[in-house]
Amino acid sequence: MNGLLELRGVHAWYGRAHVLQGVDLSVAPGEIVALLGRNGAGRSTLARAVMGLVERRGRLLWRGRETASLRTFEIARLGVGYVPESRDVFPGMTVEQNLVLGQKAAKAGRWTIADVYRLFPALAQRAGVQAQHLSGGEQQMLALGRTLMGDPALMLVDEPAEGLAPMVVAQLAACLDELRRQGMAILLIEQKLDFALDIADRAYVLGHGAVVFTGTPAALRADASTRREWIEL
Ligand SMILES: Nc1ncnc2c1ncn2[C@@H]1O[C@H](COP(=O)(O)OP(=O)(O)O)[C@@H](O)[C@H]1O
Ligand SMILES: [Mg+2]
Repeated sequence: MNGLLELRGVHAWYGRAHVLQGVDLSVAPGEIVALLGRNGAGRSTLARAVMGLVERRGRLLWRGRETASLRTFEIARLGVGYVPESRDVFPGMTVEQNLVLGQKAAKAGRWTIADVYRLFPALAQRAGVQAQHLSGGEQQMLALGRTLMGDPALMLVDEPAEGLAPMVVAQLAACLDELRRQGMAILLIEQKLDFALDIADRAYVLGHGAVVFTGTPAALRADASTRREWIEL
């Protein structure tokens, strides 16, 4: 497969804890790939490995180029956007200030603040509000918007639907779908199976730091034993 991002035999560690155990995974341009698994399976660690935030080994190719020796800011500059679980926004700054800070200093990206407001109309109405006063859904949209301002070709989005009401999750799904329509590749780390499988083109399931399933959402829906063993509680 012609991956935008391609991992081959990737291992990752926290100190002596060996978490990722040889993961192969790829994401093609314009594709939403769901990364599923139970808590502790290693999904967030995989995102951190791609960003160079944990000790890692193996091949981590971006458009065919090895990134294993690059620093986090260099990987981001290549076009990899990261929206961590913690939804990092600056709480004391307004929505608009957060978006401005998401822009990479050197060059104006494809995304303007107006584009972000078009994608997330709720944010436009809250432009002057400090991020700490936003709802969980609005904070998630701001975290996504801030990453978009950095002009990524791929976004690693870690559990965006966590803690959000069903209606907000549906809005989020529509936004991710719209991003894909515009050519964005998304690695969607999730716990909410239906949300992820409804919008993903392909899915991977991680278990104990290794890929235990890869295939289409339909194939995973049909595979009750994989779901029971590796996803459902
Ligand atoms: N900062 C850390 N230091 C040590 N171990 C960690 C750290 N973060 C995560 N782990 C461990 O790595 C494993 C995978 O965690 P994680 O990637 O967060 O899983 P997931 O995102 O799938 O829930 C777990 O066993 C977890 O306890
Ligand atoms: Mg996680």
